[in-house]
Amino acid sequence: MRRSWLSMIAVYAPMLGVPVLLYLYIIFNALHIAAASRAMLYLAMLGLALFSIVSFRDVFMERQKPPHFLDIRQKEGVVSHDHDIDNRTSKNVKIVEVRLNRFNPSTKMLEEHTYKVRVDRYYSVLDTIIDIKRKQDPTIAVRYSCRMGICGSCGMEVNGKPVLACETNVFKNMDDGGNISVGPMQGHPLLKDLVTDFDDFFSRHSSVLPHLYRKDEVEKYAAKQEYRQTREDLVKFLPFSYCIMCGLCLDACPVVNVNPVFIGPQALSQVQRYHSDSRDELGDRRLEMVDKLTHVWDCEFAGACSVACPKGVDPAYTIQLLKTQLVRKNLGSGK
Ligand code: SF4
Ligand code: FES
Repeated sequence: MRRSWLSMIAVYAPMLGVPVLLYLYIIFNALHIAAASRAMLYLAMLGLALFSIVSFRDVFMERQKPPHFLDIRQKEGVVSHDHDIDNRTSKNVKIVEVRLNRFNPSTKMLEEHTYKVRVDRYYSVLDTIIDIKRKQDPTIAVRYSCRMGICGSCGMEVNGKPVLACETNVFKNMDDGGNISVGPMQGHPLLKDLVTDFDDFFSRHSSVLPHLYRKDEVEKYAAKQEYRQTREDLVKFLPFSYCIMCGLCLDACPVVNVNPVFIGPQALSQVQRYHSDSRDELGDRRLEMVDKLTHVWDCEFAGACSVACPKGVDPAYTIQLLKTQLVRKNLGSGK
């Protein structure tokens, strides 16, 4: 806060003058000059009163009223843009009615809750749920992290389809009446509201040894050089390595939904990812691991996993590749 000259004089003059006046008062009083000593006393009191009034105004009135930012902008010549959502066109802003199917762990039931939210055309479903959680209902349990389709933690069902909520536009998914339905992925065990349990999903993934296997134990801990690959080597496994473990493919898979012992598309696509990597030395053992009815042979090639996959991993295709390689191997013609 900047002080005017007048207020500075009003503060500093009494600060310096009052001690002098009091000193003079003591001297005149000692000399028994009553009129002069009384005058000094009144002047000192007046100074103190002035000081108190100005300080009170500074501390309790002006400091609590900072200048309005628009005043500053106008003074500095800054162009002001109005971002008030109420002033946007109705084409860009809508009221959406979110039918949120929340899993209640006490009753073990899905319960529908309805929320109305004002959203703009760039809102994702995740933005909308966060908005509801912040402004209307903080009890909603939802899992997310990156908000940009990388971490794989915001998988849920929007209008019955498994999607990443952070990559799903709310405008494009509401019906003509402005309704959208959101719920948890029901192909995974449910924990609370939109949050599912991924323990089983991760066990399926780790059961297929999803890492490079090298025969040389010494080399594993004391590598002398990097493993070189050609561009062609890379292309063979690169698309399958984009999996972010979001679990949408497992949720979409109709076989897993009726036969939970089927290992599912994500784990099988990872078998193909490492089997087609030239650095991996597990060889046919990887194929043999999945040569079972509960593994590749349970897949009915519905293709729902590939439709759901947000990263283009195409698990349905990888399973067919595994089947082809197994048939060739079992017929004795190698991979
Ligand atoms: S394969 Fe696709 S859908 Fe399945 S977990 Fe990986 S990224 Fe998600
Ligand atoms: S929040 Fe990370 S993928 Fe959606």
